[in-house]
Amino acid sequence: MPADLAPPPDPVAAPAIDSAQPLLDARALSVRYGGVLANDNITLSVAAGEVVGLIGPNGAGKTTFVDAVTGFTKARGEVSLAGERIDGAAPHRRRKAGLARTWQAGELFTDLTVAQNLAVAVQRTGVWTMFRDIFVGTPPPTDQIAQALDLVGLSSVADRHPDKLALGQQKLVGVARALVGGTRMVLLDEPAAGLDTHESRQFGGELRRVAATGVGVLLIDHDMTLVLDACDRIYVLDFGKIIASGTPSEVRTDPVVIAAYLGAAEELSAAPTDGEEQLR
Ligand SMILES: Nc1ncnc2c1ncn2[C@@H]1O[C@H](COP(=O)(O)OP(=O)(O)O)[C@@H](O)[C@H]1O
Ligand SMILES: [Mg+2]
Repeated sequence: MPADLAPPPDPVAAPAIDSAQPLLDARALSVRYGGVLANDNITLSVAAGEVVGLIGPNGAGKTTFVDAVTGFTKARGEVSLAGERIDGAAPHRRRKAGLARTWQAGELFTDLTVAQNLAVAVQRTGVWTMFRDIFVGTPPPTDQIAQALDLVGLSSVADRHPDKLALGQQKLVGVARALVGGTRMVLLDEPAAGLDTHESRQFGGELRRVAATGVGVLLIDHDMTLVLDACDRIYVLDFGKIIASGTPSEVRTDPVVIAAYLGAAEELSAAPTDGEEQLR
């Protein structure tokens, strides 16, 4: 049996934040798929209240990293949440400890309202919860849902159906779904795909608001405008390895990053420098 977690903290009474300690601390994470080292010795941290970007070309290993941190794939290395080791714990235990994710191309249920989409997410936190719901019965966690919707500014559309909302709001429903139930750290896997520049700017603003409440945010996205604007720090992944990290301005001018993305440094000088470029 894999090592499991100590009893998870009560999400309502989240422990005080220790600013000296990262909220999410991944150390030397490695994931191998057959002959592919999809994550190669990745060390990455996110502090409470921080928005951290994780960028890299397709196939670089970004989703694999989220899978490894959240327990959906086997990994070597250490993962701690607020100082507690969680590697080895089952995904639902990590979720209960306050670590949540979104899925790349995660779909909403269009026959449910926005609030019901969030309720479904809460009810899927584990087998035990399911049994408890069946045999004991629990009141719908309406306060948690309301809180999550409020965090991303969606309170007024709680009773509407997602397909009737603007695309930017639909994407925020996906984020809210991951914030329900005492989430302290959220990993967002391309949550803004398909948004136009204006929508993605608003989306970035909402992520900053979420982080301002003390939640840690890891943002994976190809939209460089969004990533450069919304993130405090950025890590760049290529072929499973972190090749650079730093503030947005450090990363965007790093020759190693430019080479990894564009193949030749001189190509970036031809690209727009106002933060509008899109990575492939
Ligand atoms: N479940 C899996 N089984 C085998 N190989 C995988 C699996 N998931 C991802 N990979 C491989 O791992 C590498 C990283 O993929 P992924 O993490 O999806 O990259 P990204 O999200 O950055 O596009 C790719 O070579 C991909 O083919
Ligand atoms: Mg991916």
